[in-house]
Amino acid sequence: MWPQEKIVAFRKALLDWYDAHKRDLPWRRTKDPYAIWVSEIMLQQTRVDTVKPYYERFLYHLPTIQDLATAPEEVILKLWEGLGYYSRVRNMQEAAQQMVSDFEGRFPTTYVGIASLKGIGPYTAGAIASIAFDLPEPAVDGNVMRVLSRLFEVDYDIGVPANRKIFQAMMEELIDPERPGDFNQALMDLGSDIESPTNPRPEESPVKDFSAAYLNGTMDKYPIKAPKKKPIPVTYQAFIIRNEKNEFLLEKNQESNLLAGFWSFPLVEKAEAIPPQLSLFEVAEASPQVDVRQEFHKIYPLEVEWQSERFAPVQHIFSHRKWQIELLEGIAIAGFLPKNRELQWISVEDFHRYPFAKPQQKMWNSYLAGKQERK
Ligand code: ADE
Repeated sequence: MWPQEKIVAFRKALLDWYDAHKRDLPWRRTKDPYAIWVSEIMLQQTRVDTVKPYYERFLYHLPTIQDLATAPEEVILKLWEGLGYYSRVRNMQEAAQQMVSDFEGRFPTTYVGIASLKGIGPYTAGAIASIAFDLPEPAVDGNVMRVLSRLFEVDYDIGVPANRKIFQAMMEELIDPERPGDFNQALMDLGSDIESPTNPRPEESPVKDFSAAYLNGTMDKYPIKAPKKKPIPVTYQAFIIRNEKNEFLLEKNQESNLLAGFWSFPLVEKAEAIPPQLSLFEVAEASPQVDVRQEFHKIYPLEVEWQSERFAPVQHIFSHRKWQIELLEGIAIAGFLPKNRELQWISVEDFHRYPFAKPQQKMWNSYLAGKQERK
């Protein structure tokens, strides 16, 4: 680590730059730990510009820990709709309930207390502790690791979770004890713009004179990061079924998977995609033509007039899965809904009452676009 004078000079250069250039963000106008927590959870995996309206709306509807602790599931999912990674908001509700039961309904004021809450790891605990309570706790995320990697030419992979502690230890020395929240956020700003992963502008960095990689011409080597594994493709068939009242059949996802609690058109996973290296003969052997309509009738005892219109398939990429969804339209003319599933006929006017995740929004848009084209 650098000598103390250099550390002091570094803090000054970084904070002077932050004071002159910091982004004006809604969560930077408050010291309320609850609001800062909401922002930090939303900002995981989601860009600042996307987060802003969600943040305002969430706090408008659920302004306090108590409101979040007691909100119905549909409300919290609706407020999170489109942000993805929905376990984040479920965990937040659990954490709010923990605060009600264990912390007299208030936000804990120590790092250890904050880190004891559901869904709050070392990064988020450090961010809240430093920003809301001025505690000298590092908040080490991917952006911060990238900046530190270049400053010190760190030869450890920033994608390996066990290496985080190396960066945490560096930050404990570097962090400004007077302005820890600003220091952490200055590094976040630097990491997301001037030191961005895709097009860094190292010449403009306020701390370039401190950066070993900049001075040694090794900027393109750092950070060290192994490429991510590709998400596994999965194909689904979606059934867009209408009844005579023009209501659509929607189903609540009961499984404890990615989209538990969300409503969507009935979805059935299709047989595995055929590996591209197979010969035509092998393809015929490998994929006895499954009739998706029969698959539907096995689960849903409805009589359906299947339609032949085609709709553009929908793609959605989660971190480990890549969904391809094919759409098939049908009109239900008789039959009943099975009791072991949560199914409802819902009119378009009532769609807004139900939480729809991204894949459902995309399916609906593809359906509307297909209908529009044929008008
Ligand atoms: N990313 C995560 N937290 C942030 C914050 N407080 N400011 C800017 N970007 C962030």
